[in-house]
Amino acid sequence: MTITAGIITVSDRGARGEREDLSGAAIARLLATSSARVDAVAIVPDEKNSIRALLMEFADQKGLDLILTTGGTGLSPRDVTPEATREVIEREIPGLTEMVRREGARKTPFAALSRAVAGIRGRSLIINLPGSPVAVKENLEVLLPLLNHAIEKIQGDQRDCARPDG
Ligand code: MTE
Repeated sequence: MTITAGIITVSDRGARGEREDLSGAAIARLLATSSARVDAVAIVPDEKNSIRALLMEFADQKGLDLILTTGGTGLSPRDVTPEATREVIEREIPGLTEMVRREGARKTPFAALSRAVAGIRGRSLIINLPGSPVAVKENLEVLLPLLNHAIEKIQGDQRDCARPDG
């Protein structure tokens, strides 16, 4: 199964062209090692309406299987990616972000400062990642092994969840 993916970098400075998009590039590099194909990329400022509009376009018009955002999940006043995401998802998947934070805490206690959410809109899986390339890598190492199965289920796979160990 090839997963069609979109990457949304959320960054005021990135959107103004004042900062190179290293975390979006890191996501693309890591997805290239998996069964995903990046079909759309975009950079938006930390504005809830812009993030929400892009998430809806990627899910509803482009029909992407997977939409990853990077940035804007922290505690500063302009960090609104989780709020924008909550407004567009129909069902949340708390277990994904719980696991990412739990595993992240083994590397840095600052992992607890990401308010990232994950959820489903239509046939799309949307996941927030933090903004730094290192955090992106650590998060995706946790998430990549789950993506195929998660997306198959979102898109209606009725088969039993067979595990290799039964
Ligand atoms: N998670 C992992 N695995 N590794 C990290 O280095 N950085 C944290 C956290 N999550 C980090 C991480 C930090 S320092 C912050 S402030 C938050 O993600 C939010 O990042 P963001 O505001 O760039 O989205």
